[in-house]
Amino acid sequence: MDEYITSIDLGTSKVCVIISEIDQTGQLQIIGVGVCPCEGIKKGVVVDIESTSRAILYALEQAENMANVEVNTAYVNIPGGYSKVIRNKGIIAVSGEDKEIDSDDVKRVLNSAAILSLPQDQQIIDIIPTQYIIDGYDEIKDPVGMVGIRLEADVDIVIGSTTTILNTVKSANEVGMEVLGIIPEPFAASESVSNRDERGLGVLIIDIGAGTSDFSVFKNDKLIYNDLVPIAGNHITNDISVGLRISFNESEKIKRKFGIAYTPLASDEKMLKVNPIGIDEKINISEVQLSKIIEARLGEIFEIINEELIKNDLKEEILTGVVLTGGGVGYFPGSKELAKEIFNLPVRIGKPKFIGIDEPIYSSGAGLISYSLERKFNYYIECNDVEVKKSKSKKNSGNSITSFFRRIWDEYF
Ligand SMILES: Nc1ncnc2c1ncn2[C@@H]1O[C@H](COP(=O)(O)OP(=O)(O)OP(=O)(O)O)[C@@H](O)[C@H]1O
Ligand SMILES: [Mg+2]
Repeated sequence: MDEYITSIDLGTSKVCVIISEIDQTGQLQIIGVGVCPCEGIKKGVVVDIESTSRAILYALEQAENMANVEVNTAYVNIPGGYSKVIRNKGIIAVSGEDKEIDSDDVKRVLNSAAILSLPQDQQIIDIIPTQYIIDGYDEIKDPVGMVGIRLEADVDIVIGSTTTILNTVKSANEVGMEVLGIIPEPFAASESVSNRDERGLGVLIIDIGAGTSDFSVFKNDKLIYNDLVPIAGNHITNDISVGLRISFNESEKIKRKFGIAYTPLASDEKMLKVNPIGIDEKINISEVQLSKIIEARLGEIFEIINEELIKNDLKEEILTGVVLTGGGVGYFPGSKELAKEIFNLPVRIGKPKFIGIDEPIYSSGAGLISYSLERKFNYYIECNDVEVKKSKSKKNSGNSITSFFRRIWDEYF
């Protein structure tokens, strides 16, 4: 087990590796960061293992060089749309003669809560106890040492698409990284951009990346709803490219440099030059023209999310407001104003608070680290192929990694 905590954020536009450690004062410090563009991930899902693992390797080496350490284990994310939370309950009779609850009883009750019939393409990736109940007394956080006859556990069981999980783990294993935990995006992002008070009172978190816009509602510090819209930053760039008849690359550049998400903030006197395809000379377009394109697409994403919230009676659950994060929304001036108009709720931009990665594109990667610390994973994913560990140079050696892994609940099973 590493003394460092490492995350691998598999995003549509980039793979990001972050290495952290707990310093002598008990504070989490980021010691290495590496980023590499990646073509092997579409809408947040690994579709090409080879190019994804190549990008992981590159980002990993950058992060390791910066930190001057070597790491072998990591936490990775999967998009919210490929995971789901199911509520379940476990009940057992306390076994000891003195009826004092011990950790074996806790394992057994969680074990009994994990008995579910799942579709073949789904598997459990985490079990989160939300409360224990002893002989009818509820809201118990840690039952060990208490006395009772009947122990119940309310749990959130996180399940995910088996294919997505296998491909994700395999991509990391290919470069010798063992996956300690798979964390759905909403849990990761929320951990780095919101606080417990917000999640307690009710908050909507929207993470707009390059390929997907994940959104999640937290209430009473629990995820109560999450989904994704398969439209994000790449679509905005594409709209600019089509609208102005310029290349994707040029669109990306002007989007980043001049993009404004709310037209009233743009000027129709400020002009910028673009080079339409097939025309020799540059032409002028106004800031407003560019802003209209961005506003239309971002507004569409917000509208879809808002309708979904209304349809599911979730608007009244969101007492604190909206947190916007992810590179697809977090950099535009005006994105707060646009969101405020559509959701009719207070809006802020969320970014991780760690020095060196306090940018919206790092929300997921930073959140993976915070979440794994907070949750203190008491199980691990055993990949049968982790013998490639430490052999990072083997990235293209064609190791026969079967990635048939099973989940060991070292505490529960
Ligand atoms: N300065 C900027 N201004 C506007 N947009 C930006 C800026 N920097 C990055 N982006 C956009 O952010 C998006 C990438 O964001 P992010 O890194 O959060 O996505 P990702 O994690 O790779 O993708 P996903 O989460 O959808 O799988 C791209 O569409 C990019 O164009
Ligand atoms: Mg992302």
